[in-house]
Amino acid sequence: MFTNVIVKKPGKSYLSGLTTSDLGKPDYELLLTQHERYVKALEKCGVAVTELAASEEFPDSTFVEDAAVLTPNFAVITNPGAESRNAETVEIEAVAKTFYRKFYFIQAPGTLDGGDILQADDHFYIGISERTNEEGAKQLKEILESENYYATIIPLKEFFHLKTGIAYLGNNQMIVAGEFVSHPAFNSYEKIVIGKEDEYSANCIQVNDYVIIPSGFPETNRKLTDAGYQTIELDMSEVQKHDGGLSCLSLRF
Ligand code: GLY
Repeated sequence: MFTNVIVKKPGKSYLSGLTTSDLGKPDYELLLTQHERYVKALEKCGVAVTELAASEEFPDSTFVEDAAVLTPNFAVITNPGAESRNAETVEIEAVAKTFYRKFYFIQAPGTLDGGDILQADDHFYIGISERTNEEGAKQLKEILESENYYATIIPLKEFFHLKTGIAYLGNNQMIVAGEFVSHPAFNSYEKIVIGKEDEYSANCIQVNDYVIIPSGFPETNRKLTDAGYQTIELDMSEVQKHDGGLSCLSLRF
């Protein structure tokens, strides 16, 4: 069960944030509407939402997931791999202190983005990506193992972040796309496989009784509904334009 989430309203500087996509310039007003709907959907899932105010200093800081890894008993403050995002951790550490007493920190030269971390019950998967380096992954693995979790490091081939292409749904079920469809690390899970054309929808979030998915992917919705999940669909167009997805916009714990 998740009881809390942290989100952060996007600032106008979002428009000058990092992106690799060619989907065009985001519409700020539409982005705000999409973010408000995201918060409402989380509330429907039964979690208490802590919403941080927008800040113009960090254009990508609405993607709060990258600054921390939150578990039931401790918080890990990351060391985000993009220079312009690195100090986003200061605000996230401060707000995490209202929920946690026990903290760990990823230290340079290790870098790590929370978007590269997937928790499946007592097992964490740690992607090595453009943002998370081997040293950062090793540091997190050691922290997690010292806290009696399992941890597996997965070097990525194509995806931006690990969770760009995979989500854990609970009940030993994963939703997988692209390089994760036949990745041996996930062989012990029951898989819902997402085709190439629907790949963006693999970044979905299971929050209590619901799975929140991006709208516009009827096949994904059908697969989840057939598997017994209740879905909530949200338009994520302006988030996708800056390489973001449903998981990036919140810390869930
Ligand atoms: N625009 C999200 C990121 O690059 O981290």
